[in-house]
Amino acid sequence: MDQVSGGNRREFLKSSTVAIGAGALGALNLNSAVFASGNDTIKVGLVGAGGRGTGAATQALSTNGSVKLTAIADAFQDSAENGLKSIKGNLKEKADRVDVAPERIFTGFDAYQKVIDTDIDLVILATPPGFRPIHFEYAVKAGKNIFMEKPVAVDAPGVRQVLEANKIAKEKKLKVGVGLQRHHQAPYLEAMQRIKDGAIGDIVALRVYWNGGGVWEPRLKRSDAKNEMEYQMRNWYYYNWLCGDHICEQHIHNLDIGNWVKGKTPIKANGMGGRQVRVDKRYGEIYDHHYVEYEYDDGSRMYSQCRHQGGCWNSVSEFVHGTKGTADPHGHVMPISGDAYHFSGNSKDPYQVEHDDLAAAIRKGLEYNEADNGAHSTMTAVLGRLATYSGKEVKWDVALNSNVSLMPNVFSFDANPPVMPNPDGTYPIATPGLTKVL
Ligand SMILES: NC(=O)c1ccc[n+]([C@@H]2O[C@H](COP(=O)([O-])OP(=O)(O)OC[C@H]3O[C@@H](n4cnc5c(N)ncnc54)[C@H](O)[C@@H]3O)[C@@H](O)[C@H]2O)c1
Repeated sequence: MDQVSGGNRREFLKSSTVAIGAGALGALNLNSAVFASGNDTIKVGLVGAGGRGTGAATQALSTNGSVKLTAIADAFQDSAENGLKSIKGNLKEKADRVDVAPERIFTGFDAYQKVIDTDIDLVILATPPGFRPIHFEYAVKAGKNIFMEKPVAVDAPGVRQVLEANKIAKEKKLKVGVGLQRHHQAPYLEAMQRIKDGAIGDIVALRVYWNGGGVWEPRLKRSDAKNEMEYQMRNWYYYNWLCGDHICEQHIHNLDIGNWVKGKTPIKANGMGGRQVRVDKRYGEIYDHHYVEYEYDDGSRMYSQCRHQGGCWNSVSEFVHGTKGTADPHGHVMPISGDAYHFSGNSKDPYQVEHDDLAAAIRKGLEYNEADNGAHSTMTAVLGRLATYSGKEVKWDVALNSNVSLMPNVFSFDANPPVMPNPDGTYPIATPGLTKVL
C-alpha cells in the first residue's frame, strides 16, 4: 500500500483533479471511448436509495441529453421501492426517465454488485459511507463511471482502498465525481480563485464550523428491530463503522474547504470532544461535539469545530486568515488594502451543477476524477476523530497507514455488527486518554 504524506502540495495537486465547473472540465481525453456520441443514452444505476441517493439520481436524470435510471439497489426492499417512487415524483413530467424493471430492483448487502453488473454507464454510490470503499472498488473494476457521495470511507484502510482503486480508475479514464458540491458552487469558485491568486496573501489560519442541532433521530426502535444488525443499519448515523461520527459525516465539507484553500492536507492534529447532550443509548457510540486543531507543514493551522447540540450557537461556515486580509470562501474576499469582493452573481444549485459537470465529462470524454480529493478530505476528518477519541496528537502519516478497520468481516443480516451493546444497551464510548485508536 502506498504511503501518502500530508503536506506535500505538489503531490496533493497532482493527485487531486478537482473539477472546477463546466467551463473548466479539464483536458480532452481521447482515449475515453465510453461514449461514441454525445447523444447516447447514459444508463444510471443507484446504490443506496435514501434521501441523498434519490436526490443525486434526480439530479443525474435532470442533466442534458438522454439519460435513464435502469437499476436500483438498497439494503432494504421498502427503501428501494420508496426511493423509486420519490425519484419519479421529483422528476414530474420527466418521470419516464425512470425505467427500472422489477427484476432490476435489488436488495441486500450484495445488491450493489447486481446493479453494477448490469449494463449501466454510471453508478451513484449513496449508501452510508462505511460501504463506499467496497462499492467504489467494485465499480472501478467493472469499468463504470461513478458518482459517490462524501465521505468516501470511515477509516484509514477504507481511505487507502479508495486511493488504490482510484489509480485503476485513472488508468481506465473513468469519470468520478464526489459529493463535495462546494467545488461546483459559484461563490466558492470565485472566492477560491481570488485567494489562490494571492488576494489575501499567505494563508496562516483557517476556522471551519459545522455546528447545528444534529441530524435525524434514530428511526427504528430497538424493540422493532429483528436483530442488532438491522437496528444499526436503520440507525446508521450513530455507529462508526457505518458513519465515521459526525466529524466525518458532515464536517468533512468544511475541512475539505480548508484543504482546498491550503492546496494540501494537514500533517497532524490534536483535539477534544465527547458526549454531553446526546448521551442516551439510542444515540449509539458517536460524540456530539469535536474541537480539532490541525497543523499544515508550513505551520499554519485549521481550527475546527463541529457540534450536534440544540440551543447553541450554530454555524456551517469557513473563514480564512491571510497575511494581507481575510476571506469567507463562500463568496467574500476582504484584502486589508484594496476593494473587498462579494459574490453577486447567479449561484446555481451545486447539487445539480456537479451532475451537469460529470455528465458533460462522460459525454465529451473529458478528464474528470475527484476521488483522490474526496479520499484526502475524508482522511482529514478521520484524523480529527482519531485525535478527539484518543486525546493525543496524531500524525497524518501514522493515521493514514493505520490498519485499524471499523468494518465487519461478514456482511449479513444474520451476523453481528462489529460493535455490540453492553448488557444495559449502551455502547462503548471512546474515552480520551484511555482509548487506543491506532
Ligand atoms: N453531499 C451532501 O451534501 C450530502 C447530503 C446528504 C447526505 N450525503 C451523503 O449521502 C450518503 C447517504 O446519506 P442519506 O442521507 O441519503 O442516508 P439515508 O439513510 O437517507 O439513505 C441511505 C440508504 O442506503 C441504504 N443502504 C445502507 N446500506 C446499504 C448497502 N450496503 N447497500 C445498499 N444500500 C444500503 C439504506 O437502506 C438507505 O436507504 C451519506 O454518505 C451522506 O453523508 C451527502
